[in-house]
Amino acid sequence: MAGGPDCTARWATLVVLAALGTAVTEAANPGVVVRITQKGLDYACQQGVAALQKELEKIEIPPFSGSFKIKVLGKGEYSFYSIVVRGVQLPSSQIRLLPGEGLALSITNANVKISGKWKARKNFIKARGNFDLSVEGISISAGLKLSCDPTSGHSTATCSSCSSNIDRVHVHISGSHLGWLIQLFQKKIESSLRKAMDNKICQVVTNSVSSKLVPFLQTMPVTAKIDNVAGIDYSLLAPPTATAETLDGQLKGEFFSLAHRSPPPFTPPALVLPADHDHMVYLGISDYFFNTAGLVYQQAGVLNLTLRDDMIPKESKFRLTTKSFGTLIPQVAKMFPNMSMQFLIRVSSPPRLTVSPTGLAVTPALEAQAFAVLPNSSLAPLFVLGMSTNVSVEVGARSDRLVGQLSLDKLFLELKHSDIGPFSVELLQTIMNYVMPTAVLPKVNERLQKGFPLPLPRHIQLLNLVLQSYKNFLLFGADVHYS
Ligand SMILES: *[C@@H]1O[C@H](CO)[C@@H](O)[C@H](O)[C@H]1NC(C)=O
Ligand SMILES: *[C@@H]1O[C@H](CO)[C@@H](O)[C@H](O)[C@H]1NC(C)=O
Ligand SMILES: *[C@@H]1O[C@H](CO)[C@@H](O)[C@H](O)[C@H]1NC(C)=O
Ligand SMILES: *[C@@H]1O[C@H](CO)[C@@H](O)[C@H](O)[C@H]1NC(C)=O
Repeated sequence: MAGGPDCTARWATLVVLAALGTAVTEAANPGVVVRITQKGLDYACQQGVAALQKELEKIEIPPFSGSFKIKVLGKGEYSFYSIVVRGVQLPSSQIRLLPGEGLALSITNANVKISGKWKARKNFIKARGNFDLSVEGISISAGLKLSCDPTSGHSTATCSSCSSNIDRVHVHISGSHLGWLIQLFQKKIESSLRKAMDNKICQVVTNSVSSKLVPFLQTMPVTAKIDNVAGIDYSLLAPPTATAETLDGQLKGEFFSLAHRSPPPFTPPALVLPADHDHMVYLGISDYFFNTAGLVYQQAGVLNLTLRDDMIPKESKFRLTTKSFGTLIPQVAKMFPNMSMQFLIRVSSPPRLTVSPTGLAVTPALEAQAFAVLPNSSLAPLFVLGMSTNVSVEVGARSDRLVGQLSLDKLFLELKHSDIGPFSVELLQTIMNYVMPTAVLPKVNERLQKGFPLPLPRHIQLLNLVLQSYKNFLLFGADVHYS
């Protein structure tokens, strides 16, 4: 029966959970989401296990000794020493996602070859020789808990559990006709060596996490200084979360002013990444990220450019002079005869970028202030134009940087202010639609091609990049190469 008390309670719980869920996501949506797929974890596993192998090869097994007692012969002593690891093979390993917990590393069928020396003594009988040991069927399973250092915003990792198991140990004694003596207590030797190895394995795994993985994670930038004006905050907002398919890190992903940081007057939208998994990593970059860039640079007053005659292509008949402008607006030539002109072009309010499935677009508010350059080089203001246009933005990534390229649509002009009396702004439409794309845009694109750093740890390169825009965010997919 629908609507019974039981059902009501269940609905109430759902509503509360939904409200909590919304509250949590609204509190801090990320500006950037980093997602690692199983394919990415497989690659990480290869790299990690290669590093672990090197560490296991460095295992030091302390010498050990013991005594034996054999009927007839009586008591004697033996010791094993100069024990070295000759080789480690880790043929099969895997990193799996543990939803809500972290990652699990499992290694199976590993083997270790060890050699060393032995000696034994029984009264006057002394014997010595070499031994070879093979430790086979080693399995290691370790849990990896990922968290976030709240002060630095770095991700960090700890080995939350570790266990190892050794299937079999074979010792081969050689070098003496008294080898048979040793064979008598082979079981004891094997169990001592097995214990020694077993104790070391998890120690090495745990140490490798703290001495190799954690420092590597720390090389992932949490703040990247871009120039004298801005930095990017890439700090983690929360511990990385493991789901059944992916490992996600939510990063703040915002530009901030180096001079005076203040929170932007807008908040990031929620990002719902599609379930793509063809690439190792995905980077969801919210329009919030780009809009904080626009805000910081516009407020710093650096989104401007002075347009001079020497920036106009040589072949152009139209020059940035009062003579050329005089053909359109006669009073310019009359009031300021035979002078060159300048335009100060600036972005007059923070540009907002919209990301949608059809692409990226900005509708910036631009202003162009015209000046005549007087013979003593001082500037006489002529007029101020407001310009609006649709700009489409192409974004790409080049190795470890995000780069951009703008293209302009037609400009629409309005006269905002005139120092030389009224004139029809229509007359300037053609000129501005010529100079903006030919002289101004290349300068802007030059800067955008220098790019902005992506949040990648050291020695990581991106390959096979794909890019797709969605509502409110861009999604990069890439494979990585660790070098
Ligand atoms: C234009 O930008 C530069 C930095 O690129 C800045 O130093 C200068 O003050 C700006 N000029 C104006 C008039 O906004
Ligand atoms: C215009 O100015 C240039 C120097 O800037 C001068 O050489 C030239 O004679 C001037 N022409 C006229 C017509 O005044
Ligand atoms: C430059 O010349 C103009 C007019 O010729 C004058 O008003 C202005 O004060 C001069 N500026 C300087 C810095 O000499
Ligand atoms: C920008 O594009 C939109 C939609 O295509 C159009 O309505 C608007 O007039 C355009 N604005 C400018 C300044 O070109």
